[in-house]
Amino acid sequence: MLIFHRVQDLIKALQNLRDHSIGFVPTMGALHEGHLSLIRASKQENDCTVCSIYVNPTQFNNSEDLIKYPRNIEKDCQLLQSENCDILFAPTDAEMYPQGFHAELIKIHFGTIETILEGAYRPGHFQGVGLIISKLFNIIHPTRAYFGLKDLQQCFIIKKLVSDLSYRIELRFCPTVREKDGLAMSSRNALLSDEARQLAPQIYQTLLQVQKALEQGYSTQGAIHFGKHFLLQQKEFQLEYLEIVNFETFEFLESVQKNTKIAICLAAWLKNVRLIDNLVFELR
Ligand code: PAJ
Repeated sequence: MLIFHRVQDLIKALQNLRDHSIGFVPTMGALHEGHLSLIRASKQENDCTVCSIYVNPTQFNNSEDLIKYPRNIEKDCQLLQSENCDILFAPTDAEMYPQGFHAELIKIHFGTIETILEGAYRPGHFQGVGLIISKLFNIIHPTRAYFGLKDLQQCFIIKKLVSDLSYRIELRFCPTVREKDGLAMSSRNALLSDEARQLAPQIYQTLLQVQKALEQGYSTQGAIHFGKHFLLQQKEFQLEYLEIVNFETFEFLESVQKNTKIAICLAAWLKNVRLIDNLVFELR
């Protein structure tokens, strides 16, 4: 695996590959099976797979969250080697945001989507994601880029970014990889205490409870109420949101129609760790 820390070195290396397909997997590191599933998907359909590891400061609205974000570049390199990833791009802050670059001057707005769910609780987050992903797309020019449905709203934002800015990139959205007990894999899981880790699967259980309630004919409000009650039986959880949206448009649903793809989205703090998850399904 070739490793690059500088934009110009990566660009030079990729110039020799212009006739080949390039699959790109952007990450913030502390890699787990969820990330590796994206690498495998890219390996399957591209000549060359590029993974980036960069903890992007402009998408963190909370400086403490940025500081404590897990980092483990040596282990990440080993994991990527074992998946036969071709190129790792791990830039420094100075490389991505050089002196004189003012992130606040380049703002990509995504409309109402950035004011709901994650957007409401993490102001500016999606602008930071949009900025770094456009920069990475411009550097790498991938044929295809891979994202996880674990971050469903992020997938929606990226789709909009590619469409609004006319990127000629095929997007692939890959299913959420879970631990055996249902907990969605996340770099942040490493921050959970043993006790919190035992409780964490309740987030997925809550999503399943809401799905069951909808299937039994509960109204959306009734199902949400039921889910909140279920999760908050455990006092250690602090719920930020539990909502039901249309999978295609991300609009809140007043009622659920049959044969429409819907997503139940949840974010909660478990002690001092923020976890998100979602469940996508069609009511039959
Ligand atoms: P990060 O949280 O490291 O995630 C990188 C990619 O892995 C994202 O597309 C995310 O949805 C996917 N992913 C994470 N957990 C997953 C799981 N359990 N199953 C499947 N896919 C999973 O998302 C980011 O980084 C950043 O916002 C980024 C896009 C890199 C921009 O900085």
